Amino acid sequence: MPKHILIFDSGIGGLSVYKEIKYQLPLAKYIYAFDNAAFPYGELTESVLIERTTHIVSQLCSKFPIDIVVIACNTASTVVLPSLRDKLDIPVVGVVPAIKPAALVSNKIGLLATPATVKRSYTYDLIKSFAPISDVLLLGSTRLVEMAEEKMVGVDVNIDELKEILSPWENKVDTIVLGCTHFPFLKNEIKKALGNKILLIDSGEAIARRVKQLLKSGKEEMIIYEGEVFCSASSIKEEALNSTFKKLGFSSLQYLDYPKF
Ligand code: DGL
Repeated sequence: MPKHILIFDSGIGGLSVYKEIKYQLPLAKYIYAFDNAAFPYGELTESVLIERTTHIVSQLCSKFPIDIVVIACNTASTVVLPSLRDKLDIPVVGVVPAIKPAALVSNKIGLLATPATVKRSYTYDLIKSFAPISDVLLLGSTRLVEMAEEKMVGVDVNIDELKEILSPWENKVDTIVLGCTHFPFLKNEIKKALGNKILLIDSGEAIARRVKQLLKSGKEEMIIYEGEVFCSASSIKEEALNSTFKKLGFSSLQYLDYPKF
């Protein structure tokens, strides 16, 4: 039986993490779940985040023989990991903004994340531990998250709008930590807005390495399994979403059993 990997986010952002994991573990069976009924997570309270994430992840863990859970969402990871780990007896991996590697190469760092992530004590502790002498500027934007969602269903990113959002950082940062899993999908556009010299760092590859390390490798059959994808609400963009997921190796969208938000 293949390893079953459950990847969770509020939307399509977790696909940036999925791509990295799939690259390292191509023979696993992937279950991707996103809570679009409650999107965007960056605007939710901690208790709602914990309740929704725990409910959805537990539901899928009883439906599939999941070997590892990846919370591919920085916003959720800042609060849900302790309760999920208490509840489940399999490894749960979260996503942490890549402050540590950024601080090794720069002292003009910008952390780009959701409004919730930039407020959390978890984020401040991370900066305090790993970037004590660096000047870390914080910017939380839900609009950027929406722009990444739109791009994934074929809408062009408006570079002027992006420039406006990033304007407080012009000439102030040389390295940006992409502290939201949606943002790697905007890398080219961020470079267009801020110039090619800007260094963009995300945590995708590090998470993939961690997942590979935690999954005890057995003898796997040379089969590429079709992934399954679940969401919590219907979308007017269903056709475009299905085509995005299909290109990445998933079957059509299925619906989670969850009351409407
Ligand atoms: N992709 C998510 C993150 O990494 C959440 C974005 C949102 O729903 O606000 O934080």
